[in-house]
Amino acid sequence: MARFHSLEVVDVRRETRDAVVVTLKPRAEDAAAFDFTQGQYLTFRRDFDGEELRRSYSICAGKDEGCLKVGIKKVEGGAFSTWANENLSSGDILEAMPPMGKFFLPLAPELDRHYLGFAGGSGITPLLSIIKTVLAREPKSRFTLVYANRQISSIMFREELEDLKNLYLGRLSVLHVLESEAQEIDLFTGRIDAEKMEGLFKHWIDATSVDTAFICGPEPMMLAIAAALREHGLSDAQIKFELFASGQPGRAKAKAVSANVAANGAGTTATVTLDGATRSFHIPREGQSLLDAALAASLDAPYACKAGVCSTCRAKVLEGEVEMAVNHALEDYEVRAGYVLTCQCFPLTEKLVVTYDE
Ligand SMILES: Cc1cc2nc3c(=O)[nH]c(=O)nc-3n(C[C@H](O)[C@H](O)[C@H](O)COP(=O)(O)OP(=O)(O)OC[C@H]3O[C@@H](n4cnc5c(N)ncnc54)[C@H](O)[C@@H]3O)c2cc1C
Ligand code: FES
Repeated sequence: MARFHSLEVVDVRRETRDAVVVTLKPRAEDAAAFDFTQGQYLTFRRDFDGEELRRSYSICAGKDEGCLKVGIKKVEGGAFSTWANENLSSGDILEAMPPMGKFFLPLAPELDRHYLGFAGGSGITPLLSIIKTVLAREPKSRFTLVYANRQISSIMFREELEDLKNLYLGRLSVLHVLESEAQEIDLFTGRIDAEKMEGLFKHWIDATSVDTAFICGPEPMMLAIAAALREHGLSDAQIKFELFASGQPGRAKAKAVSANVAANGAGTTATVTLDGATRSFHIPREGQSLLDAALAASLDAPYACKAGVCSTCRAKVLEGEVEMAVNHALEDYEVRAGYVLTCQCFPLTEKLVVTYDE
């Protein structure tokens, strides 16, 4: 089971006015645990005024860079991202779980693939990792990136993308779409919506040549892109998503449920296996997720977003039934196999048997 490890901050570089790139170094004994796959993310934890916050950030380094790097964009009023942009410096120690996530396609050096990527704002981070890795390790493949930003000054990794285009001549093309800055070609000004997607397919991208598309950005943009890709013949299996936020709770604490209510009210008896140890506890019939009930019972259950986005809290239901309120992270085949996001799970039966270990 994933646990937190200390990472040393070895560099903090300002990327744009409101984004930093943080380079991290695991301890020698943790190096293997932090050997990532392109497109994965790290989950950090830190105390803010006595309350622990956990936040995930995608690795933006390629597999061959020999380091761990994340790009953190400041969200207005955001606790962790503001702190990272304003206070983090070299020599600091951050606590992080080993890399997680399935926003990647296994590499196949012998194949000649055309990847299509769509990034909105900080959604470029996992795509940059994928682009660098694919171009280096699949010498016959090429990548087309459509990258949406408000204006030129907010484009993260602009120079690095230019350098990659020069390094891999003809194998990387980047189309910048700017919301509030006019460009020579009208199609590249405004938001990416259904109409813009039509224009891109008509003039710039041959959908029939695309093997796999990666999308990471704001939810409405992702939905519009996915719908257009499907209309142009891509199957769901060819479209991969990474969602950064979806009504993610801010700093407000979840409502406390008293131990007495949990124990005495009509509810569910949950039996949970974590790290080889099995424990039982009660969950009230309404209002408390399986994850929150496990944490209230002092189980060290894994989680990050608590919003059904990241899948850190994944477990398997072996007996009983649950309802999942939100699922932005699990694939259909995982749900069919009994996997659930415990942060979004509410029991429907009096008995529930769950394992985090499978
Ligand atoms: C798998 C995954 C990977 C991620 N990778 C990255 C990354 O590489 N770079 C990066 O900068 N962020 C990334 N994020 C988003 C990041 O985890 C945080 O959600 C974000 O930095 C805001 O956290 P905060 O503590 O600063 O704000 P909070 O204190 O949590 O929130 C403050 C306010 O901002 C809103 N908000 C929260 N997140 C966002 C957002 N992303 N955009 C707009 N409004 C938001 C909240 O609803 C709230 O009202 C990723 C998220 C996930 C789930
Ligand atoms: S903690 Fe992120 S999906 Fe449950």
